Amino acid sequence: MCGIVGYVGGQSAQDVVVAGLKRLEYRGYDSAGVAVLADGGLAAAKKAGKLVNLEKELGDRPLPAGRTGIGHTRWATHGAPNDVNAHPHLDNAGRVAVVHNGIIENFAALRRELTGRGHALESETDTEVVAHLLAEAFSAGGDLADAMRQVCRRLEGAFTLVAVHADQPDVVVGARRNSPLVVGVGQDEWFLASDVAAFIAHTRSAIELGQDQVVELSREGVTVTGFDGDLAEVREYHVDWDASAAEKGGYASFMLKEIADQPQAVADTLLGRIDGEGSLSLDEVRIPDAELREVDKVVIVACGTAFHAGMIAKYAIEHWTRLPCETELASEFRYRDPILDQRTLVIAISQSGETMDTLMALRHAREQGAKVLAICNTNGSTIPRESDAVLYTHAGPEVAVASTKAFLTQLVACYLVALYLGQLRGTKWGDEIRTVVRQLSAISGEVDRVLETMEPVRELARSLAHHDTVLFLGRHVGYPVALEGALKLKELAYMHAEGFAAGELKHGPIALIEEGLPVVVIVPSPRGRSVLHDKIVSNIQEIRARGARTIVVAEEGDEAVVPYADHLITVPATPTLLQPLVATVPLQVFACELATARGNEVDQPRNLAKSVTVE
Ligand code: F6R
Repeated sequence: MCGIVGYVGGQSAQDVVVAGLKRLEYRGYDSAGVAVLADGGLAAAKKAGKLVNLEKELGDRPLPAGRTGIGHTRWATHGAPNDVNAHPHLDNAGRVAVVHNGIIENFAALRRELTGRGHALESETDTEVVAHLLAEAFSAGGDLADAMRQVCRRLEGAFTLVAVHADQPDVVVGARRNSPLVVGVGQDEWFLASDVAAFIAHTRSAIELGQDQVVELSREGVTVTGFDGDLAEVREYHVDWDASAAEKGGYASFMLKEIADQPQAVADTLLGRIDGEGSLSLDEVRIPDAELREVDKVVIVACGTAFHAGMIAKYAIEHWTRLPCETELASEFRYRDPILDQRTLVIAISQSGETMDTLMALRHAREQGAKVLAICNTNGSTIPRESDAVLYTHAGPEVAVASTKAFLTQLVACYLVALYLGQLRGTKWGDEIRTVVRQLSAISGEVDRVLETMEPVRELARSLAHHDTVLFLGRHVGYPVALEGALKLKELAYMHAEGFAAGELKHGPIALIEEGLPVVVIVPSPRGRSVLHDKIVSNIQEIRARGARTIVVAEEGDEAVVPYADHLITVPATPTLLQPLVATVPLQVFACELATARGNEVDQPRNLAKSVTVE
């Protein structure tokens, strides 16, 4: 989320920074900006929209020539994507400029403090407070790196910050906590960037910064310290990717990169929403708690992958809130004259925020008096703008057409809403809710663990590339996971793939089973609702007896499935309702690898578009 570039050297800072931003535009394209130090002062330009808008502005009104500069391409989190909220942000005297990636959780308190001391803040961002705090700390004595360390010690959340100060003309300072920042070491020139793609055209020597470190680039070189000021050890490494691989973080496709990004995307979506005691706060959802307590029915509308997230949300909402919940394809919703009123909460899930079917469904819901909460990944897009409230997923830009990391973050957002409503309504599941909230806060580590064990899944996928059909079966939340696995395979591998509720097998689909047919079965945890588990183990035996080649996705240590699995894919133990977060990942990897083995272009599958803005 957001791309950052910094430069100190002998070339035009504006040119180097803008070229670097172009390579990082995949990280965000809501707005872009650049600041350079020149003639003893600081000059900046920023523009809403894609980088071309900034380039045009700089073409019309170039900044003064300078050799030190910073730049940013934004994926909005706090505040709409407009010129004012674009980075860099400056202090009131216009001497400090700062760019930021991440979320500063305590920015509201810091902002109140600053306005109390007479600072005038003009944007809605969490970033602007940093420019003002840096200016104050710098004028109290010391240099920009000292000021950065002081400020970072006061910040909560995840952030990469890069700043310049007009009184230190050849210096760029960066800081990092939980967000990426890499140093590029050239011949008498130095770079800072969110990833090496930004400077790969200039140098392949890089230094990765550790957690809670501050880096100073100057004509003398690179100095790295901790937030406490202690010098840190610096280790240079060689980047052996070419420029296009670098943009994809070294992965062969954006889709692979986005699959790998999922632990971070999940963690970012949870950030600031769960406190240490295991309780939730969703202050940004601007529907008063009193109104949410009055809700007597929930309806979820979405399309495609987002619809599958909504299907899973139904299980969670009904269980934790005891409210009736329906999940509907947005394209069908308004044509069946649904019954809605002021006590209905409609949840519209959309990665892009522009899907026409979902937009029309939410308009219809609002016309009937229902409250609409959007779950969306794109700040300032139409669906959140037309909703009563929005809960943003923080997946960052999803470039590959087939949705992966957006899906996982949509699930996280749905769980947060379900748990929050349950918390508000004080259902009998109060203890379970507190436990699950704690388990949810650790889930990104489990997603990471799944990713570490994917080599056998890739091998299996390659071995199935010549097949025409793959079936997917699941029960309970495993059913929407089966549908999602089948959808990924259809859109990427162009294969016939179907997902079924395993209980429906004997009502028809079992006729499809023939010798050697690959069938993926998602098995719920043997703990908890073990009836479900036992039933699906029987289903596996039934299809295997008829010749199916069974590919079983089951919890680690589930011995009961072992005798019937031709291929076993294990995932970490999670509460039943959270299992889709770990069980979907192998299916994404499976589809991506199988598609690649069939020679397909996974980032842009045929006939599809990333954002479907027509009905
Ligand atoms: C499938 C996929 C689509 C989208 C659907 C909704 O991989 O990406 O099915 O999920 O078009 O898009 P959004 O979430 O942007 O409304």
